[in-house]
Amino acid sequence: MAEQGFTPPTSEWYRPSADMIKGANVPDYDAVYDLARQDPEAFWVKRADELDWYQKWDQVLDDSNKPFYKWFVGGKTNMALNALDRHVTTWRRNKLAIIWEGEDGEKITLSYWRLWQETNKFANVLRSMGVKKGDRVTIYMGRVPEIAIAMLACAKIGAPHSVVYGGFSEQALASRIDDAQSKVLITCDGAWLRGKIVPLKDTVDEAVTRSPVVETVIVVKRTGQEINMQAGRDYWYHDLMALPIAKPQADTEVMDAEDPLFILYTSGTTGKPKGVLHTHGGYQVYTATTLKWVFDIKEEDRWWCAADPGWITGHSYIVYAPLILGATSIIYEGAPTYPYPDRWWQIVADYGVTILYTAPTAIRGLMRFGEAWPARHDLSSLRLLGTVGEPINPEAWRWYHRVIGEERCPIIDTWWQTETGGFMITPLPSVDLKPGSATRPFPGIEVDIVDDDGAPVGTNEDGNLVIKNPWPSMIRTVYGDDDRFISQYWEKYRDQGWYLAGDTARRDEDGYLWVIGRNDDVLKVSGYRLGTAEVESGLVSHSAVAESAVIGVPDELRGNKIFAYCILVEGVDGSDVLEAELKAHIRHEVGPIAVPAQIEFVDNLPKTRSGKIMRRVLKAKALGQPLGDLSTLED
Ligand code: WT7
Repeated sequence: MAEQGFTPPTSEWYRPSADMIKGANVPDYDAVYDLARQDPEAFWVKRADELDWYQKWDQVLDDSNKPFYKWFVGGKTNMALNALDRHVTTWRRNKLAIIWEGEDGEKITLSYWRLWQETNKFANVLRSMGVKKGDRVTIYMGRVPEIAIAMLACAKIGAPHSVVYGGFSEQALASRIDDAQSKVLITCDGAWLRGKIVPLKDTVDEAVTRSPVVETVIVVKRTGQEINMQAGRDYWYHDLMALPIAKPQADTEVMDAEDPLFILYTSGTTGKPKGVLHTHGGYQVYTATTLKWVFDIKEEDRWWCAADPGWITGHSYIVYAPLILGATSIIYEGAPTYPYPDRWWQIVADYGVTILYTAPTAIRGLMRFGEAWPARHDLSSLRLLGTVGEPINPEAWRWYHRVIGEERCPIIDTWWQTETGGFMITPLPSVDLKPGSATRPFPGIEVDIVDDDGAPVGTNEDGNLVIKNPWPSMIRTVYGDDDRFISQYWEKYRDQGWYLAGDTARRDEDGYLWVIGRNDDVLKVSGYRLGTAEVESGLVSHSAVAESAVIGVPDELRGNKIFAYCILVEGVDGSDVLEAELKAHIRHEVGPIAVPAQIEFVDNLPKTRSGKIMRRVLKAKALGQPLGDLSTLED
């Protein structure tokens, strides 16, 4: 069942200007798509040849052990080679790699040369602390330049990073540290958000108590408030970076194309988060190609992906792909509405941002404040706008197009996932658009919409979105759990060998794709991905709750909001006080994004005879819709 209200296909077309098409990196989508389809391996070799390799591959694709595909087998490379090392030997050393603005107005710029040096210094620090190739390092930071430095330094020394989003609670952090078994954790004293300090280090202290595998904590000073520093465990980043060991040159570890670059945890259908594994070789090729073609990156662009580096969007398109392309990437630390709702538009004007990439929930949030805020700023530098994270409703699309893009900028609606590593269904700037449709697959990608047996569904009919062929940045496994990797993504269409995305989609009469929403127990709230099971296990970890079920219901601003149903333990009665207490509990156990909008206390939950909660029934009831087929209902 889809989590999002479906907007029917429209025949409202937006066509790019002749100049846009003529000047685009890829002016003819159909031609390139056909080329890639005829010979995918030759197509990806061309893309891989644009990058530097210590040694080229012997085999482009090894599919002898499906679904454990391998790309560029035998190739030797390192993300840091392409993102940094290769630029500093050219004039690009003087180009800005990162422009950073703090919420408090502080500004930092890093040239490629400077970013390379800082990365080398930190790589030396990590090495001196005993971090070796293959060791996992957890990163739990705010949106500061040092998060990019930390990620790149890990890549450079071959230590896979696991970035945990700074909005997660200590429990979520602890379970991710545990799963990755990281001995080293990099954090900040705090982060600025809406004028207040998010106390990251306090959360780390609690998480490390719960997950004692951590031996060393490195702390970047950002906010300067008093924090606990435990002698022998906690070190200030700036102290370490001032040591003689922190030389500005460091060797880059020669990595196999298939060696892990990072683990990134995401929500699945069970309570335990999945560690999605990406590797050095294919991930570089795919993310760099997609960014260059989809957002048409040119040397002079100022690219702003307004996501958090802690999500895949930030990994692929704030840090890695822009740097591989030698682009200038903008990072803003704080809230879009701080101190006023025009902060983003101010940033666009101040830095001459040419391409802005954000999420529907942010657009809807800013739309609420009206057109006067953007109208105060010169947005004429913008030439392309992008969106990701959930379906964009046509009203938000049109507002973004008209008010922010001044009817000049195509809206690039990119569908993809943590697991896919990069954009999968997306227009290129030369493609005609329809508001709310992510249009067509990227060249080299074959998608289809099929029923439960794998038969293609008809035009404008709902079905399961599948990807029919392997691609270079595909998830390699769930860290430490190959079985889960298979059962989650490959079991359903095992005979056909297709990847199951977990989304419901449609294809309209023009062949345009419309992603409607998740069809598994995954929720999208403000573009964030959450498992129903994560919220449910958070609720039952409270002593008053015996059992719980949560569902997502459509919400104008957030896409979906969470409704929770709880059966209380014997002798406890539901009350407003208890509801507030449970919300605070979830905030603490899972994180602020998981807090239910509403908690209802009930005597029982609709279940199948085998004991599975029928969330579909709860949802139909919450929306006042017909309950559907109840034949499997137990009671
Ligand atoms: C899920 C993946 C990949 C970056 C952020 C999300 C939904 C993502 C779109 C879009 C409709 C979208 C899907 C997908 N989604 N982009 N353009 N249109 N839905 O990554 O957290 O791994 O979530 O986000 O439901 O399966 P993620």
